Amino acid sequence: MSQSAGPRAKLQIAPMSLPGSRELVLRVMPLPADVNANGDIFGGWIMAQVDLAGAVLPSRIAKGRIATVAVNQFVFKQPVSLGDLLSFYAEVVRVGTTSITVHVEVYAERNPADLQFVKVTEASLTYVAIDKDGKPRPLASG
Ligand SMILES: CC(C)(COP(=O)(O)OP(=O)(O)OC[C@H]1O[C@@H](n2cnc3c(N)ncnc32)[C@H](O)[C@@H]1OP(=O)(O)O)[C@@H](O)C(=O)NCCC(=O)NCCS
Repeated sequence: MSQSAGPRAKLQIAPMSLPGSRELVLRVMPLPADVNANGDIFGGWIMAQVDLAGAVLPSRIAKGRIATVAVNQFVFKQPVSLGDLLSFYAEVVRVGTTSITVHVEVYAERNPADLQFVKVTEASLTYVAIDKDGKPRPLASG
């Protein structure tokens, strides 16, 4: 088992949560259709998955419709390869009047013969609770 894969490298499978309050919100494996010209996974596909994963906790808090208002930060730390199983962990870092900001970390499980658990992507996104007209809705109003 490689020790260079980070603090979770000894894990054989992705845990349901990471230290702190980071919760497993999505697991998915990319398909050949998601590969870019370099043979790695297209960054836009990863961004879409992060947006979906990031919305899970805000949806729960908002108890209704939400919209992504901002991607505050997005870092591709390592390329993602075909065969990687991706686990998305999310943590709410700020709850405002109508908005919720979430930190998302993505880990890849790769190389089954010598399993590694590698952080590949990190992002911060903000979601806004919206009403039936698509206008910001105070979170307390349910
Ligand atoms: C989301 C949307 C309804 C917000 O409407 P708005 O009039 O811009 O909202 P406001 O300026 O009143 O801000 C609402 C909240 O969003 C936050 N916000 C607005 N712009 C932000 C930004 N660039 N970064 C972080 N937070 C932001 C505000 O701080 C506020 O939070 P708070 O109420 O918790 O203090 C509107 O911008 C929208 O419909 N955007 C398109 C959403 C969409 O289609 N997303 C899918 C991707 S295309």
